[in-house]
Formats: sequence, C-alpha cells, structure tokens
Amino acid sequence: QNHLFKDLDLNISKGEKIALVGPNGCGKTTLLKIISNRIAADEGEVWLGSRVEPGYYGQEYEDLDPQNTVLEEILANFDIQIEQARTVLGSILFSEDDVFKPIKNLSGGEKGRLALLKLILSGANFLLLDEPTNHLDLDSCQTVEKILQDYEGTLLMVSHDRYFIDQIADRVITLQNGRLESYHGNYSYYQEKVQSRNKADMAARREAAREQSKPEIAAREQKKEQERIRRKRIRALEDMEHRITELEEQKSRIEIKLSDPLTYSEEENARAFTAAYKELEEELQFAYNEWEELSKLLEDEPMEGNNDELFAR
Ligand SMILES: Nc1ncnc2c1ncn2[C@@H]1O[C@H](COP(=O)(O)OP(=O)(O)OP(=O)(O)O)[C@@H](O)[C@H]1O
Ligand SMILES: [Mg+2]
Repeated sequence: QNHLFKDLDLNISKGEKIALVGPNGCGKTTLLKIISNRIAADEGEVWLGSRVEPGYYGQEYEDLDPQNTVLEEILANFDIQIEQARTVLGSILFSEDDVFKPIKNLSGGEKGRLALLKLILSGANFLLLDEPTNHLDLDSCQTVEKILQDYEGTLLMVSHDRYFIDQIADRVITLQNGRLESYHGNYSYYQEKVQSRNKADMAARREAAREQSKPEIAAREQKKEQERIRRKRIRALEDMEHRITELEEQKSRIEIKLSDPLTYSEEENARAFTAAYKELEEELQFAYNEWEELSKLLEDEPMEGNNDELFAR
C-alpha cells in the first residue's frame, strides 16, 4: 500500500492564515478533506475546537446546485433578503443580470467566487480552501484576495499562487515526501528560509566532497612520487647504457691488443692486458645485469606517460 503521509502532526491556532504547499499529488487535497471530515483517515484523529465550524471549498465545486441561478443558490441556502443577496453578490462581482445566470452556465472563475461567498455566508470560521484562485481571472482573484484578507476566521488553503499566498498567509506549511514542515511567515519568508537552508546544504555537500577527495589528493601525491622514481630509473638506465658502450669499446681495444702477437713479446704487458680484459668483462657483466634489472623495473611499472622512446633503443 502506498502511503501519502504518516504520523503527521499539525496544530492550527485560531485566526491563523496558513498556506499549504507541496508538489502535485503529494496529498494536499486529501489532507484538507481529512481535516474537514469529508473523507476518513486510515489512522489518526482530527480534533476541532468546540466552536469551530469548518467550511470546505473544493476543486470541483461539489456544493453548488447546477440547476439554480446564482441568486437562487444564495436565497435557497441562507436566510437572506433579495436586496441583501444582490449586495453580497455584487461584492464578488456578480452584478445586474449576472445573478440570473444558471450555475451550470458559469465559468470556473464564477463558480469559484460563488462557492467562496457561500462559505463565508455559512458562518464557517475555519475555511479549508483547495486552490481557490484556480480558474479565476485577475479581477476575481483580486476580489477573493480582498475577501480572504478581511476574513477574520481561521484559514488553511492550498495554493500554487505565490503572489496570492504572500498577500494572505502568515504561515506556510509544506507537505513533501509525506512530511510537514512549518514556516512562520509568508511565502517570501518561506522561500528565504528554503534558500538559506539550500545554501547551507550545498556548503555541507561541498565540504563532504572535499573530505572525500582527500584520498584522491594522496593518490595524486603518490603518483607524482612514482613518476619521480621512474624518471630517476630512466636516467640511471641511460647512464648505464653509456657506461656499457664505453666498456665495450675498451674491451674491443684490448681484444685487438690480445690478438696481436707483439703483445706477447713482453710477458708483463700480456699479463696486464689479460688482467684488464678480465676486469672489463666482469665490469661489463655487472653493467649488463644492472641494465637488465633497471629496464625490467621500468617495464613492470604501470606508466602514465609513453615509454616507447625508452624501449625503442
Ligand atoms: N480516492 C482515492 N483513491 C485512491 N487514490 C487517490 C484517491 N484520491 C486521490 N488519490 C491519489 O492520492 C494522491 C494524492 O492526491 P491529492 O489529490 O491529495 O494530491 P494533491 O497534493 O492535492 O495534488 P494536486 O497538487 O495535483 O492537487 C494522488 O496520487 C491521487 O491520484
Ligand atoms: Mg489537490
């Protein structure tokens, strides 16, 4: 089962004018209908003060009789004289012949105004209005705005109209992800609060990102160090290659000497060349081993850069 909300806790004091805002389908209408006792909650309770008379204004204008004219609708429901009825209807922009229009022919805006007037005349002191400015033209909007500003009862209204909320509400409640949050102020105040909270959230996220990137920085440092070692090894390898070339040249020079019969005419000479030759061979062997080890180290390393240059030799 899909829960719209759970464990909501909301206190409304006498005289408060509250705007309920929230994304489409989050359950605003449902909550209003539960509070006004039009539908029952699966769980929980709604307490109304003993003298509270709730009046609900729905998105569907369920409470208007389409067969009545505007004037009939007022006369049928309230103990009121025709003159008085026409005066109050005039106050919500039904003038002259307008009052004889059948309700079924009214526009959404006209129905909205009439439904609202009925609510006020009903003596309801706790209005629950579901998007009262929906379908209203600008004139109707301003009229309703004025009526609600002057209204002395308690008001809980759902609205998406920020300007309208700003003109009327002294408290904004958000319904989001099944949770209510309350802001004591008008819509602008609510926006300020949300913005500064978003800023704080963003700063916290940035800080968290910085914390998280610490290992990355360490990894970067480590890579730099590896690169330093690698370059050092490349230099050592190059030095070793020069050394090997040098030793090989010396060796071939001595080989020439050793293959010359003249060398052997002097015993000491021959011994010296032979010894030098042996020494060179050992040194070369050592150099080859060293070179091999270095190039193996470099080959095994995971490299960032291109090592082709090195191994092309
Ligand atoms: N009688 C019902 N049975 C089952 N689901 C319903 C019923 N009434 C409404 N819903 C669903 O409950 C969810 C909340 O509806 P509700 O009308 O309360 O939202 P809302 O916040 O008023 O949305 P909106 O901003 O569009 O008016 C919606 O997904 C809707 O489809
Ligand atoms: Mg709704």
